[in-house]
Amino acid sequence: MGQVLPLPEREPTPEDRPVLVVDLGGQYSQLIARRVRECRVYSELVSHRTPAQAIRARNPRALVLSGGPASVYADDAPDVDPALWELGVPVLGICYGMQLMARDLGGRVERTGGSEFGRADVRAEGGALFEHTPEEQVVWMSHRDSVTAPPVGARVTGSSPSTPIAAFEAPERGLYGVQFHPEVVHTRHGNDVLKNFLYGVAGAPPSWTAAAVIEEQVERIRTQVGNARVLCALSGGVDSAVAALLVHKAVGDQLTCIFVDHGLLRKDEAAQVIKTFEGHFHVPLVHVDAEDRFLSRLEGVEDPEEKRKRVGEEFIRVFEQESQRLGRIPFLVQGTLYSDVIESGGTDGVAATIKSHHNVGGLPEKVDFELVEPLRLLFKDEVRRVGEELGLPERMVWRQPFPGPGLAIRIIGDVTRERLEILREADSILQEEVRRADLYRELWQSFAVLPAIRSVGVQGDERTYAYPIVIRAVTSEDAMTADWARLPYDLLETISSRIINEIPAVNRVALDISSKPPSTIEWE
Ligand code: XMP
Repeated sequence: MGQVLPLPEREPTPEDRPVLVVDLGGQYSQLIARRVRECRVYSELVSHRTPAQAIRARNPRALVLSGGPASVYADDAPDVDPALWELGVPVLGICYGMQLMARDLGGRVERTGGSEFGRADVRAEGGALFEHTPEEQVVWMSHRDSVTAPPVGARVTGSSPSTPIAAFEAPERGLYGVQFHPEVVHTRHGNDVLKNFLYGVAGAPPSWTAAAVIEEQVERIRTQVGNARVLCALSGGVDSAVAALLVHKAVGDQLTCIFVDHGLLRKDEAAQVIKTFEGHFHVPLVHVDAEDRFLSRLEGVEDPEEKRKRVGEEFIRVFEQESQRLGRIPFLVQGTLYSDVIESGGTDGVAATIKSHHNVGGLPEKVDFELVEPLRLLFKDEVRRVGEELGLPERMVWRQPFPGPGLAIRIIGDVTRERLEILREADSILQEEVRRADLYRELWQSFAVLPAIRSVGVQGDERTYAYPIVIRAVTSEDAMTADWARLPYDLLETISSRIINEIPAVNRVALDISSKPPSTIEWE
């Protein structure tokens, strides 16, 4: 009789024991999850409506209740399933989350008139959360109501002049609360407080590293695709590059990448994609030089939306033609990020849809493929760290965002080969000088724009009649709002004189000093 062998047990991964951030509607919920991950503990956001059973099923190491709207006594105040308190998992309540704990667990919350917004001084009186932090510490608060009695059995461990109960702990019940925001940088020891909770209270090891992410994703990809073939559209951006490399690491040559070069990329960009993927990583790559096709579709088109539409349509057409040539491929890689999942209602348990905002130069939303989304759990900065770990060159890992329709929407007017050439040169000088000044990573974006108008200048003894170049450089957190970057005058001078001296078709450089809103980052 054959012997029954037990299946090998899979080692638990950090993702098997997440710290769940229960989103109560506060503006920092996402930030809390990111901070926890910065402590190398895997964390996910969940809606406050998630039933305790579903939370238990995730086997969390701990829960963090986020901040939220004004008052826990308001009619529509967000709530949690009361059974959450009985899960036997340590809970850290932050701001509104702390007040909810007090309200539900035998304490009291009141509008005392002692509201605090901004900096406050907290006096720590022992407690696990404040371990190895100073007795007096600067924190950041934002609340109207205050806890006036902690939950039954809890001890007050921190107070500020206007908030006598700024922190409490009930270790036997696994309850921890802070009125301040440990996740914001203005709370000087916020990170220590979080680490004390994660490592000390919840016993979560700091094991969620880029290397662990790679290992886990490689495993998942292998399970998902088996022996089948996988297709990936490379754009030159960091998301598609990292997604492709993860899949390649998992299933090697089962992956084929298609790189549609629409001729609207920046100087040397296409060459770098090919060198990196084909030359360095040996990823099977179909490079489609489609410049002629795109330029003829764009001929004489001045309207920005029409440009976007035509580039988008042509991209899909070329991609479909090329992929059909490759035979039947069931899987398609998408670089969907965790922030896209959250924004599309992922934390409310609603099935995630891929963000269509600005999805020009991407693939159609309905495709006849099963999607492989290896970045679905990652924030952008984590994608970059994974990219570094995978050996992706610095230039690609830290590349500023670049729009799908590329330089077509940075030429204001119709797109010609000549204008593209001029813009590419100007942009390349600008990038070079911004990098030389060590500002590239500080800026959200920095680029050149070519309005297709001409102005008069004089060079040598000659009158010139040539194009201007506009410098656009912005700082931003998320591209929803942006401020024009205060670039140093010396840098602007170098950029301007190099562009005018090195590019005969340009005789003037202007600086865009508009913020978003009311302007947008791109000109079209
Ligand atoms: P705006 O110009 O709306 O741009 O302030 C916000 C951000 O989105 C980028 N952008 C795009 N990205 N396809 C993309 O992938 C697009 O069609 C597109 N248009 C704008 C822009 O560069 C900025 O970072």
